[in-house]
Amino acid sequence: MSLALTGPVTQVRIAKAIDLSQQTISRKLRELEDSGYIQRTIGPDGETLRLTKQGEEKLNACLKTIRGIIMTDNVIRLKGKVVSGLGEGRIFLNMPYYVDSFKKLLGFQPFPGTLNVLIYEKEFLEARLELESVKGIEIPEHREENRVLGAVRALPASVSGITPAALIFPARTVHPRSIVELISPFHLREKLSLKDGHEVEIEVFT
Ligand code: CDP
Repeated sequence: MSLALTGPVTQVRIAKAIDLSQQTISRKLRELEDSGYIQRTIGPDGETLRLTKQGEEKLNACLKTIRGIIMTDNVIRLKGKVVSGLGEGRIFLNMPYYVDSFKKLLGFQPFPGTLNVLIYEKEFLEARLELESVKGIEIPEHREENRVLGAVRALPASVSGITPAALIFPARTVHPRSIVELISPFHLREKLSLKDGHEVEIEVFT
C-alpha cells in the first residue's frame, strides 16, 4: 500500500490510496485537525490538506521510532548507572537554540535536563568508544549576542525500553567519556522510577 500523493491532497485521494471509507478518513482528519497536526483549506478544487509544523514534527518523531525498532542490526548497547551532575543539563536544555534544534532534528521537545549515566564495565566502555566514530545528527555551533553555543552531536536511542530518546555529545563538556548524557521528552527518572545508582540499558540506533 503506498501513499505517494503529489498535488493537492484531498479526502477522496487519501481514501483511495489507503483503502478506507471516506467516512473513516473524514473522522480521522477531524481528529488530526483538532490535535493541530493538519490544516484544512477549501479552495476552488475542493478541500486540500496540509501538514502543520507540529504535524511534521510528530511525523518525524514517529519515523525515527519506527526506524529505531526496525533497524535492530544497527544497534550499539550500553549499560550503566544513573548519576547526578551539576545541574548544567537543564541550563542548556532551556536554551531556545538547542530546544528548537532538537525539535527539528530529533522530532521531540526535550525534558529540560540530561540524564547522566556512568558506564563502568569494560565491555560497555568499549561500546562507548565505538560511538566516537558514529556520525549521528549534528547541531552546529551557534553564535548569539556575546556568547557561543557549542556544537552537539546526537544519536537516537532508547533508555530501558523508553523511546524517543537520544544520547548527546556536546563538543564542550565537563564530563569524562565514561559518563554519557541522555535527552528525552520524558522525565526519565520519574517514568522509570530511577534513583542514583540504578542501572539502565541504552540502545543506540546508529
Ligand atoms: O543535575 P544534573 O546535571 O544531573 O541534571 P540536569 O541535567 O539539570 O537534569 C535535571 C534532572 O532531571 C536530573 O535529575 C536528571 O537526571 C533528570 N532528567 C530526567 O530524569 N530525564 C530527562 N529526560 C532529563 C533529565
